[in-house]
Amino acid sequence: MRGAETKGFLEVDRIEKNYGAMKAVDGVSFSLAKGEFLTLLGPSGCGKTTSLRAIAGFETISGGKISIDGQPVSDPANKVHLPPEHRQFGMVFQSYAVWPHMSVAENVAYGLHNLKLSRAERDQRIRRVLAKVGLEAQLDRPATMLSGGQQQRVALARAIVYEPKVLLFDEPLSNLDAKLREAMRLELRRLQAELGITSLYVTHDQEEAMVVSDRVIVMQGGHIQQIGSPSDIYDRPANRFVADFIGSSNLLEAKVLRRQGNAVFVETAVLPGAEIACATVGAVEPGSNVTLSFRPEHATLSVEPASRDQNVLSGHVSGRINMGSHLDYRVAIGRAEVRVSAPRSVEIPLSQNVVVVLDRDRSLALAS
Ligand SMILES: Nc1ncnc2c1ncn2[C@@H]1O[C@H](COP(=O)(O)OP(=O)(O)OP(=O)(O)O)[C@@H](O)[C@H]1O
Ligand SMILES: [Mg+2]
Repeated sequence: MRGAETKGFLEVDRIEKNYGAMKAVDGVSFSLAKGEFLTLLGPSGCGKTTSLRAIAGFETISGGKISIDGQPVSDPANKVHLPPEHRQFGMVFQSYAVWPHMSVAENVAYGLHNLKLSRAERDQRIRRVLAKVGLEAQLDRPATMLSGGQQQRVALARAIVYEPKVLLFDEPLSNLDAKLREAMRLELRRLQAELGITSLYVTHDQEEAMVVSDRVIVMQGGHIQQIGSPSDIYDRPANRFVADFIGSSNLLEAKVLRRQGNAVFVETAVLPGAEIACATVGAVEPGSNVTLSFRPEHATLSVEPASRDQNVLSGHVSGRINMGSHLDYRVAIGRAEVRVSAPRSVEIPLSQNVVVVLDRDRSLALAS
């Protein structure tokens, strides 16, 4: 089903939410296709929860419009605000909100309290959904006897039993320990794909966003910085903020010397005279200031003097950390320091002069 729908099922059009003079959400637009898993990702305070709550109907928006399946649900210009209980959205929060005095089945049954179903139909739906999340055997257990991961699955079952149009998640895994969180990411993804649930997910954890999402929206200060697939955002960050926020990137101030086809030649401020070839995501003009961005794994170290056609920055080793799976080298280049990943077998002593060889297709000139 994924990708079949071209028109957005959920349409968010230039929404704004002001708290006094504070613009918590400032012109956010996106559309979510049926069956898609879309994630709002960004640092604390960037407006993720506010956007999600506005979509759920818990917040009135100051401007813009939200529509579901072609019907406006929030449209302040036309005095439209459908209350949350009429939007048919399911929600899963960070705090599981699982009731301790109820059994697993009773907790899930709560998700159906607004629907008029026969007892048999209700029980059947509950069993079916608990089987999906792997909790059928725990049906009659008090919810307090469940682990954190199991409680989170009850919360998920309660949200999906009602067959919502869209499932909204706000940091649902952040209370779980690291190992369980990793396992639950994969499980969430599997369930979502299996059930074809249209999902809007909020997290500040970029790794989580990469694992679960079809597409990711990177937000900062109430604005969208980039929308794309996880690999788009990782490989082709739109700007310095995204390059820095997603994974690790080396960021050096630079100036564009010239363009040649798809390649851009830049000179960094820390090493004038050294010409670096790189790619670009947006339009950058000769003479303009840019940020040269490359990831530690997209460069290699060499102790041999560079040949003329190599794409290098020269410096000396200023640090080395053993990360277990690889070595994390620090190389001083003028007054800057960059990180370069190397296999454990690469042993270069501190202070040794080296060249950092940049992959010209994976180093980017980003508009600053
Ligand atoms: N009810 C409120 N009154 C005033 N300001 C608010 C209110 N709710 C949120 N804000 C502010 O709006 C901004 C966005 O908050 P929001 O909760 O959406 O951030 P977030 O991206 O979800 O962050 P986190 O990752 O910490 O959960 C923040 O600066 C926050 O302080
Ligand atoms: Mg939040």
